[in-house]
Amino acid sequence: MPTINWDPSMTTGVESLDNQHKQLITWLNELLAAMTLGQGRAEVSSLLDKLGGYAVMHFDNEEDCMTKYNCPVAAQNAAAHKDFVTTFTGFREEYEKTGATAHLVVRIENELMRWLTTHIRKTDTQLAPCIRSTIS
Ligand SMILES: [Fe+2]
Ligand SMILES: [Fe+2]
Repeated sequence: MPTINWDPSMTTGVESLDNQHKQLITWLNELLAAMTLGQGRAEVSSLLDKLGGYAVMHFDNEEDCMTKYNCPVAAQNAAAHKDFVTTFTGFREEYEKTGATAHLVVRIENELMRWLTTHIRKTDTQLAPCIRSTIS
């Protein structure tokens, strides 16, 4: 079972956002472990709740920061967040209907890992130079 770890290539230049990413990654790893181990629905359900709710709070914070620092990828970031919420809601609904099937677990794993690593590294990190240019 692969787990993801936060590393400096995910630095956004805002400590609170980096901490939120770390928390999201921790819960994602727990979610994947719980699903893979076939743990009860209640546990998977509560992790999905935590992860989903926290992601929305994080997106709001991050979008505010990008707007504040006039980040050129602000709109692209917000659109990606919207897509994420749609995808995540679909997973959640499927889970409620079918439970943690192997097929669903694999797709959640692939999608959330792709999201967290690629989106954070390619889009969220673009905040750092915007903050630097505002300060200097
Ligand atoms: Fe983002
Ligand atoms: Fe983010």
